[in-house]
Amino acid sequence: MPSNREGAGQTTLVTGASMGIGVDLAECVAKDGYDVILAARSEDALKSVADRLAKAHGVKTTAIAIDLGVPGGGEKLAAAIAARGLTVDVLVNNAGYGIAGAFDGSDRAAQLGMIDLNDRALAELTHIYWPRMLANRRGGVLNVASTASFQPGPLMAIYYASKAFVLSFSEALWKEAEGTGVRVSCLCPGPTASKFRERAGTGKTRLSRTGTPMPSAVVAEMGYRAWKANQRVVITGTRNRVAARLVPFLPRRTVLGLVHNLQSPL
Ligand SMILES: NC(=O)c1ccc[n+]([C@@H]2O[C@H](COP(=O)([O-])OP(=O)(O)OC[C@H]3O[C@@H](n4cnc5c(N)ncnc54)[C@H](OP(=O)(O)O)[C@@H]3O)[C@@H](O)[C@H]2O)c1
Repeated sequence: MPSNREGAGQTTLVTGASMGIGVDLAECVAKDGYDVILAARSEDALKSVADRLAKAHGVKTTAIAIDLGVPGGGEKLAAAIAARGLTVDVLVNNAGYGIAGAFDGSDRAAQLGMIDLNDRALAELTHIYWPRMLANRRGGVLNVASTASFQPGPLMAIYYASKAFVLSFSEALWKEAEGTGVRVSCLCPGPTASKFRERAGTGKTRLSRTGTPMPSAVVAEMGYRAWKANQRVVITGTRNRVAARLVPFLPRRTVLGLVHNLQSPL
């Protein structure tokens, strides 16, 4: 492998790297020569991704099985990383989940768990590694939000709100990092082929019938390319881009009605 690859001598932490978009994001950074730390709960899946990437791209890979949804999960992960003598130059906050359905009657722990994972752990890990990035004047953060970030989501209210947080937080950090050499991007995928839909229950909504999900490798490649260019926000797919950019110009009631309709069961 060429030793002059962009990531040579640096390490990227990818959360949610046991399956889906996270695996493809880990592949993107490994291909560029970054050593990779892969974190998620499924140990066997993580180890097999780690082995495959190490062989394919000649980088050091480390799998750490951890539940980031519990309070303090980010600090625990950082301690496990430090205990292995590793540091993090680039942070890819990808782990996340959604739950479709009305807020009324929903499971409270599962609803709050979305905030804990999608927002709290993401902010916690960023807070831990941000000072080192700024001090080194390199590296950065790639946060995975969603097209859900651009409007409220009746019938998936907490998930949409959790992703609005990710977009807002990422854009603010992009500005704070301006001129420092630290890159920040927010990847906003539309429907993407992964386990997400099955886990979230969105396969039974009208939205699921409106198009074909994009391959996760294409989504990851777009996100990684955007991060390399320090592009603040990247929305996958022309239709998703147009829809997200239209939202601010539509009456809020219309937007709420449209999303409510799309998130309704078939
Ligand atoms: N697929 C889509 O249509 C879509 C659209 C927009 C945005 N997104 C976002 O893209 C990101 C990746 O989703 P995906 O589509 O790749 O879904 P996925 O296939 O379900 O993967 C989610 C990843 O997050 C990990 N994860 C879940 N709970 C965790 C926890 N408590 N602690 C640590 N890791 C955890 C999962 O691993 P374990 O289960 O092994 O822990 C898995 O690696 C998410 O933030 C999602 O919100 C997805």
